[in-house]
Amino acid sequence: MIIAVSGKGGTGKTMVSANLVKLLSKTGKDVLAIDADPDSNLPDALGVNVNKTVGDVREELKKDTSLGKIPPGTNKWDILDYKIMESITEKKEFDLLVMGRPEGSGCYCAVNNMLRKIIETIATNYDFIIIDTEAGLEHLSRRTTQNVDIMLIVTDPTHRGILTAQRIGELASELEIQFKKLYLILNRVKKVHEDNLKEKISQIDLDMAGIIYEDPAVTEFDLKGEPLINLPESSVSVSSTKKIVDKVLNLEKN
Ligand SMILES: Nc1ncnc2c1ncn2[C@@H]1O[C@H](COP(=O)(O)OP(=O)(O)OP(=O)(O)O)[C@@H](O)[C@H]1O
Ligand SMILES: [Mg+2]
Repeated sequence: MIIAVSGKGGTGKTMVSANLVKLLSKTGKDVLAIDADPDSNLPDALGVNVNKTVGDVREELKKDTSLGKIPPGTNKWDILDYKIMESITEKKEFDLLVMGRPEGSGCYCAVNNMLRKIIETIATNYDFIIIDTEAGLEHLSRRTTQNVDIMLIVTDPTHRGILTAQRIGELASELEIQFKKLYLILNRVKKVHEDNLKEKISQIDLDMAGIIYEDPAVTEFDLKGEPLINLPESSVSVSSTKKIVDKVLNLEKN
């Protein structure tokens, strides 16, 4: 099952992705985390050092080709597949693949196009793939997330965040991208605002996966630079995400 996490910049996509990786890998499932944000920060949240990104692999292959190091008649996709597999960081609990960005002013879309192919190739090796997407709507128009089963749109409790979430929902249906499920996650909620926010959300055409409350432990970890994956299960953000996992994955079974 492929789950993508999207939304406006800074709404909590990486925090939600890290919590999902943590909770799903705890259940003994094979989990691949993909950082598809060029401004990559999922490795930090997962506490993983990454040596090579897919962007790096692509640059290497380009260099090797121009230096004539690739024998004629070799299928470049085979080499790329192999090199991409090599760039996956394997941890005990989960694997991580970072898309990164190509060097210089190169277009990010080449790396993005590769993401679609990678998902097709390696999806069957894992029970769950969690994709932390690039902020905004681009991943939809580039169709990098078109094979995703569950799209989780994260918003913070701001008008603009909710508007972006709504646009992601609308664009997906305009582009006829058929997610099995598309949900909204309302993040950084303070209890005093909860009822007002629920009222606001009820007016937009998105199903709610759940609420994640403002979590002082996340702020503390951020200050210390501690990986969010080490948050205790009792912390508000992890327990709120757990409720979302239960709801979303149970609904999926029905
Ligand atoms: N529920 C929460 N409680 C407290 N802090 C939070 C919560 N959710 C996210 N944050 C903090 O808000 C900031 C933005 O979160 P995060 O990096 O997950 O967002 P993002 O959508 O991935 O951002 P970007 O678009 O820059 O990748 C981070 O410092 C994060 O730790
Ligand atoms: Mg992020």
